[in-house]
Amino acid sequence: INIPTPVNEPVLSYAPGTPERQKLKDALEELKSQQIEVPLIIGGKEVRTGNTAKIACPHDHSIELGQYHKAGPKEVQMAIDAAMAAKPVWESLRWEERSAIFLKAADLLSGPYRFLINAATMLNISKNPFQAEIDSACELIDFLRFNVFFASEIYREQPMYSSKDIWNYVQHRPLEGFVFAVAPFNFTAISGNLPTSPAIMGNTVVWKPASSAVFAPYYFMKLLQEAGLPDGVINFVPGSGSDVGDTILASPDFNGIHFTGSTPVFQSMWKEIGANLAKDHYKTYPRIVGETGGKDFIFAHSSANVAALATAMVRGAFEYQGQKCSAASRTYLPESLKDAVLAEVKNQVSRIKTGDVCDFGNFFNAVIDKGAFKSITEYIDYAKTADDAEIVIGGGYDDSKGWFIEPTLIVTTNPKFKTMEEEIFGPVLTVYCYPDAEYEQTLELCDQTSPFSLTGAVFAQERTAISLALTKLENASGNFYINDKPTGAVVGQQPFGGGRASGTNDKAGSKQNLMRWASVRTIKENF
Ligand code: SER
Repeated sequence: INIPTPVNEPVLSYAPGTPERQKLKDALEELKSQQIEVPLIIGGKEVRTGNTAKIACPHDHSIELGQYHKAGPKEVQMAIDAAMAAKPVWESLRWEERSAIFLKAADLLSGPYRFLINAATMLNISKNPFQAEIDSACELIDFLRFNVFFASEIYREQPMYSSKDIWNYVQHRPLEGFVFAVAPFNFTAISGNLPTSPAIMGNTVVWKPASSAVFAPYYFMKLLQEAGLPDGVINFVPGSGSDVGDTILASPDFNGIHFTGSTPVFQSMWKEIGANLAKDHYKTYPRIVGETGGKDFIFAHSSANVAALATAMVRGAFEYQGQKCSAASRTYLPESLKDAVLAEVKNQVSRIKTGDVCDFGNFFNAVIDKGAFKSITEYIDYAKTADDAEIVIGGGYDDSKGWFIEPTLIVTTNPKFKTMEEEIFGPVLTVYCYPDAEYEQTLELCDQTSPFSLTGAVFAQERTAISLALTKLENASGNFYINDKPTGAVVGQQPFGGGRASGTNDKAGSKQNLMRWASVRTIKENF
């Protein structure tokens, strides 16, 4: 079957006077007044445990959006049982039938659910309308449509050759057990992609959304049900990482993890999986697919365009308060450009408006929670007292109304300064200036500075400088941008993911990712 090649979902502007702006405003007001109670959804049924936690609003401590129920080991086991019970029927459907559900889900999200899910994203994780739109509308719609397209290509693939009197073919089967999807707080799109991509390939899933971001994923789960997802195919199980994770990894039917989150959590799960494997605990080797953060760089050559570079630094480092695993977090500037670039960055940052997401003029909002606020401000305080660093922009913070931290730029004379090496996951960009003549050595330094390898960018107009960066930084990022910011990968255009401590590089939104959720049987028949 040939399905139409998808096109990326157009981004709505929410400009003053447009009907979509009003619809989004209405959805925000409605959600703020609702006090929703988010249940678990297991085997298609709502489950309430009574063990609840607040659905928070990071930019306004006084707002409570509602409560969500947390799973304990008993409910996680119920979710595993529901996933295993749903398998036989789900995998017996033709892939076109499974795909129809996800294509319908994409249409529902493109239409009636768009404003609701964007509003839930804005309120619960403090995103401005543009950041919500490119995430919980466009990117999630793209994931659904493109993954169906990639699946269609996979199911068509067959061995090149069958010699006389034999016939060779392959079948792409789902995995034998269930898949565990573990989602981060910062992208509703990623949260929604983690369970749906294995499900498109015929697998059943237990999905743990991030505790600080259950709101929009809950509505997406409801949308999937409305699109016709059979009971038990995806089970929505918010809860603490250890309560959910321990029960899942102890199940002999655990067959894969699709993870986005922090490096330490991923590593500890991998160790637990390894320990269980050593005891022959699982029926099948689990597939381990993870994306785990970054220390992403912008590297400028002296031939760089100053205005474009400064804009990339501001957008790359400060959009969504720097809480993207792809966010620009360290910049290498040639000394000859230092003054001009920093002046332009300062100029742009001075125009940034900060505050509540419901005021659409605010570019900048709050960081996700108290834990993030504490750890990010500790980095800022560290830089304030260091001899080899200086804060030249921002550095302030205020948690009286919400978790607000100013866009902050540190200049250091030490290329291995703490904030040049460690992931901060907040609006903090560190700049190191190098002598123009040491471009090549500094590229090598950049490669060796951090254990991560997710995204990076080079800014240069001289082709030889670009070539050198491409070569020297070959393994320093999974996504490499030339004269662009290192954030904002688009599904179907820039498959996303990285290696080293950043993950298994199984590119979100790609055929390669979907292949991880297929078990291939090769058949040879003699005639
Ligand atoms: N895919 C996002 C980006 O490219 C990060 O997860 O910014």
